[in-house]
Amino acid sequence: MKILVTGGAGFIGSNFVHYVYRERPDWHITVYDKLTYAGNKANIAGLDESRVAFIQADIADPEAIDAAVAETDAVIHFAAESHNDNSLHDPSPFIHTNLIGTFQILEAVRKHGKRLHHVSTDEVYGDLELDDPAKFTPETPYNPSSPYSSTKAGSDLLVRAWVRSFGVQATISNCSNNYGPYQHVEKVIPRQITNLIDGQKLKLYGSGENVRDWIHTEDHSSGVLTILEKGRIGETYLIGADGEKNNLEVFKLILKLMGKDESWLEHVNDRPGHDLRYAIDATKLHEELGWTPKYTDFETGLADTIKWYQDNEAWWRPQKEATEAKYKELGR
Ligand code: NAD
Ligand code: DAU
Repeated sequence: MKILVTGGAGFIGSNFVHYVYRERPDWHITVYDKLTYAGNKANIAGLDESRVAFIQADIADPEAIDAAVAETDAVIHFAAESHNDNSLHDPSPFIHTNLIGTFQILEAVRKHGKRLHHVSTDEVYGDLELDDPAKFTPETPYNPSSPYSSTKAGSDLLVRAWVRSFGVQATISNCSNNYGPYQHVEKVIPRQITNLIDGQKLKLYGSGENVRDWIHTEDHSSGVLTILEKGRIGETYLIGADGEKNNLEVFKLILKLMGKDESWLEHVNDRPGHDLRYAIDATKLHEELGWTPKYTDFETGLADTIKWYQDNEAWWRPQKEATEAKYKELGR
């Protein structure tokens, strides 16, 4: 089996590459990545080059993606502009990569008759009230809030249309908030851990009542591999591990695990249009494909993640100053 992993030098894509490398030793993996500010070849360093190849290119480049897709059996499409705050500052790369890029991948898999798994997000469904007993299901209507989530929603709809109109062999997954190693320091958990390492305060948006449904990135990887191998073509599967926590709880846990008191917590300007709550109902993935998450103890997973950032300062240090300068411009 030969797979092409777009965005395989980013956070979730590189964790997926490591996961497949371990779990499917007879597969060949080609990572296809533009290496934007969020991509880093170090994320996939040390893997046997006879089993993992690398192509630096843009998914929106029709010739480059066509040539790469022609050589593979299946495409697992992680590449995206992924950060909401950036999308509120400048939406244009989100249109380019998430919409035009996904369109070019669809055209290539259509032409060459290849299997596609499209990786998406729970944010396409908008947000829930804090006390809403319902969670997101594959039937929840799309209602995205930000330029990021609206372009992800658009990319999902393109995939659905290419399945129906052209018979493209695709599946879609919508996952909740991931955490773990190799996550860029712009995202909430690595930002706070590295702030504390730097003697800076944690930056909490608004009141901190916003809820995210945390899943360890290893469990996202196992969910994607399960869908790739066993999922029904044309279906959407939601991936989540019942990890709902509000931001204030997460921040307090980081402080506890890093031995600091609450004087290290600072409330900063809220994100415009800030989604209140996400929550995934993963029943379909459990019942239909037999998937279960393994890393469900959030405190242990967070402690391991803190240790990873403490042990890998050389990995995140080059990105930290520019990231905080961007936040300063946004007043957050
Ligand atoms: P990331 O920003 O860490 O990585 C994105 C990767 O895509 C980078 O390596 C980047 O260089 C590459 N890339 C960007 N534009 C490209 C282009 N035009 N051509 C080729 N490569 C390009 O993102 P992430 O957090 O790892 O997210 C990966 C995927 O998972 C995204 O599709 C995202 O929407 C989805 N997702 C993320 C989360 C989360 O919590 N982070 C949750 C659910 C779904
Ligand atoms: O739900 C899945 C989504 O999760 C993915 O599709 C996105 O790619 C991923 O970035 C993530 O989106 P969020 O916007 O939820 O993640 P972020 O890490 O930016 O923020 C998480 C929460 O923490 C959110 O409520 C905003 C808040 N926050 C964020 C930052 C960066 C803070 O309070 N302080 C911060 O410094």
